[in-house]
Amino acid sequence: MHEEYLNIERISLKHEISYPQTGLVIADEKVAKLYPDLFFTDASLPTLYLRAGERQKSWNQCLKVYDFLAEHQASREDIIHVFGGGTVCDLAAFAISTFKRGCRLYLYPSTLLAMVDAAIGGKTGINYLGFKNYIGSFYPAERIFIYPPFLQSLATAELRQGYAEMLKCSMLNEDLLLPELDRIFPPRDQLILDYARYKMGICAQDPYDNNQRQLLNFGHTFGHALESFSNYKIKHGDAIVLGMYIACEYSFVEELSSAEEWEQYRDWISQYPIPKAALSFLSDTALSDMLPQMLQDKKWDNQLRLVVPVHGEIKIIEVEIQADQADKQRKNNAHPA
Ligand SMILES: NC(=O)c1ccc[n+]([C@@H]2O[C@H](COP(=O)([O-])OP(=O)(O)OC[C@H]3O[C@@H](n4cnc5c(N)ncnc54)[C@H](O)[C@@H]3O)[C@@H](O)[C@H]2O)c1
Repeated sequence: MHEEYLNIERISLKHEISYPQTGLVIADEKVAKLYPDLFFTDASLPTLYLRAGERQKSWNQCLKVYDFLAEHQASREDIIHVFGGGTVCDLAAFAISTFKRGCRLYLYPSTLLAMVDAAIGGKTGINYLGFKNYIGSFYPAERIFIYPPFLQSLATAELRQGYAEMLKCSMLNEDLLLPELDRIFPPRDQLILDYARYKMGICAQDPYDNNQRQLLNFGHTFGHALESFSNYKIKHGDAIVLGMYIACEYSFVEELSSAEEWEQYRDWISQYPIPKAALSFLSDTALSDMLPQMLQDKKWDNQLRLVVPVHGEIKIIEVEIQADQADKQRKNNAHPA
């Protein structure tokens, strides 16, 4: 990977955006339709339109991208411009990172979540065998162009998903200000940039996610499990907020947080309107049923690595799970239903 791309200088805030002049384009088909002046007026570059969504982060879609790149004889020197939210960015970036061992990648995130999170830091991936991001690579984009006017067409529920990741970061770093959800939209350009840069700064210090970067997984062990276990009916940001809630509750139950701290975390998290359907899914699901999803990373062995508050500071801890339980779950991992 190009570690030098993990640099805030690679993020540009754009007030105007124009169609690329060279290379190939991959775009979320919905975004292309919503911005015809951008995509259909001067568009002369080969373009692949993709559907967005968690179920599209799949091997079949990945093959579509390979076919497109092969058909247009993309070389490693060619720039592939990707316009879309987190699912299109993750999928396309994964395919681009592996096609001829990597073409040049420019990302134009079109959702709030992709602007402050998914397009930043170089994690790419597709879902496989029922597990989130089971196949992926580290491949930071050479350039990331953030064009906030894209957010004008974004549905409120999708804006909320980005807010979820911002809420997470504001709990990790109190210097990051976060207005209440109903006062944030449209988000100020500077706010978007602050969050994007915050994530980039952490990724630059730990490009391969071995140490401090794992703090960004706050809420993700439970959240990813919820997402895949619900067959992606629960959206990413909603699942992460529920995951943060479970992590804080765990911390309280294990006496890693005081009653006052637990109350404070609940106050923060309750700013976020979790949809009723997601809440009732959670209350109908035993956490132990989601262990296969939580244990999907083989290197964790019998340890579950959790990001939880520990006496007022969010930290990474390792939790032993019983060997026979882990073995059983790993067998399930190998042959998920
Ligand atoms: N790689 C990473 O580091 C990272 C970090 C966080 C999240 N993610 C991933 O990001 C994904 C979620 O991304 P997302 O929330 O952007 O979802 P998404 O890509 O599915 O987009 C949500 C919806 O918004 C539509 N859309 C996109 N841009 C639009 C626009 N400007 N106007 C109107 N509609 C628009 C899409 O077509 C889709 O229907 C998850 O798969 C998650 O795992 C990755």
